[in-house]
Amino acid sequence: MSIITKLAIAASLATALSSGAMAQDLTGKVVGFSQIGSESGWRAAETSVTRQQAEERGVDLKFADAQQKQENQIKAIRGFIAQGVDAILVAPVVATGWEDVLTEAKEAEIPVVLLDRGVDAPEDLYLASVASDQVVEGRVAGQWLVDTVAGADCKVVELQGTVGSTPAINRKQGFEEAIAGASNISIIRSQTGDFTRSKGKEVMEGFIKAENGGADICAVYAHNDDMAVGAIQAIKDAGLKPGTDILVVSIDAVPDIFTAIAAGEANATVELTPNMAGPAFDVLAAYLADGTEPEKFIITESKLYTAADDPAGEYERRKDLGY
Ligand code: AHR
Repeated sequence: MSIITKLAIAASLATALSSGAMAQDLTGKVVGFSQIGSESGWRAAETSVTRQQAEERGVDLKFADAQQKQENQIKAIRGFIAQGVDAILVAPVVATGWEDVLTEAKEAEIPVVLLDRGVDAPEDLYLASVASDQVVEGRVAGQWLVDTVAGADCKVVELQGTVGSTPAINRKQGFEEAIAGASNISIIRSQTGDFTRSKGKEVMEGFIKAENGGADICAVYAHNDDMAVGAIQAIKDAGLKPGTDILVVSIDAVPDIFTAIAAGEANATVELTPNMAGPAFDVLAAYLADGTEPEKFIITESKLYTAADDPAGEYERRKDLGY
């Protein structure tokens, strides 16, 4: 069994435990959560799940919405340190620029857990990271395309996530690795859509205009489902059929993408669980109780979903989870 598989199993188990009766108690603990913002349906679900997990464990959660700005996140984290919180959760909007504030948290002996994105900073500055392997996510999406086009020529346009964020960097890398051996597939245009639906639509409109009204585009690879949903609208507005004329593959597995897959307007998505907080609270409970050092990187599963995976049912299973 590979190390990735072992970590994925450990993370699923942690998720299962944390959402059930065995969730570890953190009654009375104060935890600051610096969230990026609400750029996507997935982000909204992560916020809801974190609030719910905190409530179940008796955590007093101090929530700070950074409106996509790193400076706001740094300010919020400094505020949490000044308040003397027991722990800090942070979903870092970009990878760089964290060293100073993480050092301040460490000096104040406040453990920090990173949620869903990574940082370029020494590992000893945070207790743990709960995230997917974003390179794997890109590879899963790319491999789906390689298998689906089965040797036919395919020109791909790519909607990248937020510039400088680890999911944008890693999902690009993973996809490129997967198609590297397929000379029939090439990325002809790549631009950021900032993980939002509106920007995804706007950038896709530009791609379509630049590529012969979309006739030269075989597939769109979007780093998240929200941008894919925006792209689907742009494809329809151009008089083309998303899912047929232009294949659509993306990442997150939010309810709206399952509606699109069920309607034949999207083809595949890679699941990212919004429950990063469950495993994070588990490691914090153990650490705050007796100093137990957790695994540094807790990796969540990256499962592919297509039309063969009951998209209507998947929509029903997710629709009330806060997306
Ligand atoms: O970091 C995770 C990514 O951030 C999600 O895929 C995306 O939807 C979000 O905004």
